[in-house]
Amino acid sequence: MAKTAAKSTKSQACWQQKLKYVASSPYLYTHVFVEKAQGAVLTDVDGKHYLDFAGGIGALNVGHRHPAVVAAVRRQLDKVTHTCYHVAPYEGYTEVCRKLAEVTPGRFPKKAVLFNSGAEAVENAVKIARAYTKRPAVISFDLAFHGRTMLAMTLTGKVRPYRSGFGPFPSGVYHAPYPYAYRRPPGVPAESLTEYCLAALEKMFVVEAPAEQVAAIIVEPIQGEGGFIVPTPGFLEGIRKICDQRGICLILDEIQSGFGRTGKMWGCDHFNVAPDLMTTAKSLAGGLPLSGVVGRADMLDAVHEGGLGGTFGGNPLACAAAVAVFDIFERENLVARGHKIGQIIKKRFDALAKKYDFVGDSRGLGPMRAVELVRNPKTKEPIKERDARWILERCVAKGLIILKAGSHNNVFRTLVPLVITEEQLTRGLDIFDEVLREFNPT
Ligand SMILES: Cc1ncc(COP(=O)(O)O)c(C=O)c1O
Repeated sequence: MAKTAAKSTKSQACWQQKLKYVASSPYLYTHVFVEKAQGAVLTDVDGKHYLDFAGGIGALNVGHRHPAVVAAVRRQLDKVTHTCYHVAPYEGYTEVCRKLAEVTPGRFPKKAVLFNSGAEAVENAVKIARAYTKRPAVISFDLAFHGRTMLAMTLTGKVRPYRSGFGPFPSGVYHAPYPYAYRRPPGVPAESLTEYCLAALEKMFVVEAPAEQVAAIIVEPIQGEGGFIVPTPGFLEGIRKICDQRGICLILDEIQSGFGRTGKMWGCDHFNVAPDLMTTAKSLAGGLPLSGVVGRADMLDAVHEGGLGGTFGGNPLACAAAVAVFDIFERENLVARGHKIGQIIKKRFDALAKKYDFVGDSRGLGPMRAVELVRNPKTKEPIKERDARWILERCVAKGLIILKAGSHNNVFRTLVPLVITEEQLTRGLDIFDEVLREFNPT
């Protein structure tokens, strides 16, 4: 628990009320009860400031309360807040779909459809792929994270905490290995990992489901919750090829990796791979709930009228925010800014890996960067869960919010708002370094 926050009366009172009334299942990284936020800084109910390296888990690439987002939402508030798109459409929805079609890779006619959460986008991408291909099965990857609804959870490749106790799961979902270079299967050299994983994928068509029954392969261009695992060269390209050869729809889940998070607009821009369908959410609407599926128009239009949608999907306020977000990216050149931030973090994280034995790996793309902490660099045994918690809490006590991830919760990752100032970024990285200096794995 973040002791500094708990000491103060107001935070403590909030905590007591939370314990009494809120279900204990939503995990809390920190006990910081937030009063307000701006840019890359959170302020708690007691007035303490925190540098925010979590950005609402990657939902705030334009920063908290970006003035243009706030102004757009205010304007929209004065017009209409909700009609339900199915009852009376509005231009904002079309505008977001148009922008998504324009800025996503792939030189083919594109369309989009909007929802609320990332999990919903994932569910609907699978529905679209099934409707188009008329096939049932879906392949995802070990350590993937695609959300918490029934199908998205089934696609997710991590038992604890996401799947444990929630079965039985929908059938027709299979997991293939993702190339985790730092933790390769025994006997597989680094240079053969791509080949090994692609062969394992091909083997699924023999062991699990014939290719002609597979509707889609869904993959994160860089794994997020799995621990910022960057795929080995040729892996995504190899999947694209397999999909093309077998008539399988390639769904790229860019929910965490999109909107400049990797130093390019989309994670897949690093690999020159265009998906048939892409899922997007998180930073799409600068902090408001909005998600979408964008991709091949013929695929999206394969679904019968009434087959997709929802009461709040593509809400007018969220659409107004999203239109502002696209504008901000252009005007403020946020992708280039992200690239620069990424270089700064990389330099510091690579230095941590040199300085501390327990920093086993420094990896990532652009500002989507992480360090993986181990008890022993030779055996790569992960640091203990309580040690990771200690680091996180020490950071919070010193005014930095930073998140864990990974199969053993031993990966510390940065999802900083891309509008963070260089001074704030440096201060946050200094705090992390200070805490690691104090750290001794138990
Ligand atoms: C890659 C990816 N897909 C899907 C999701 C689920 O999004 P949501 O939490 O909005 O349902 C997440 C959330 O972290 C994610 O990182």
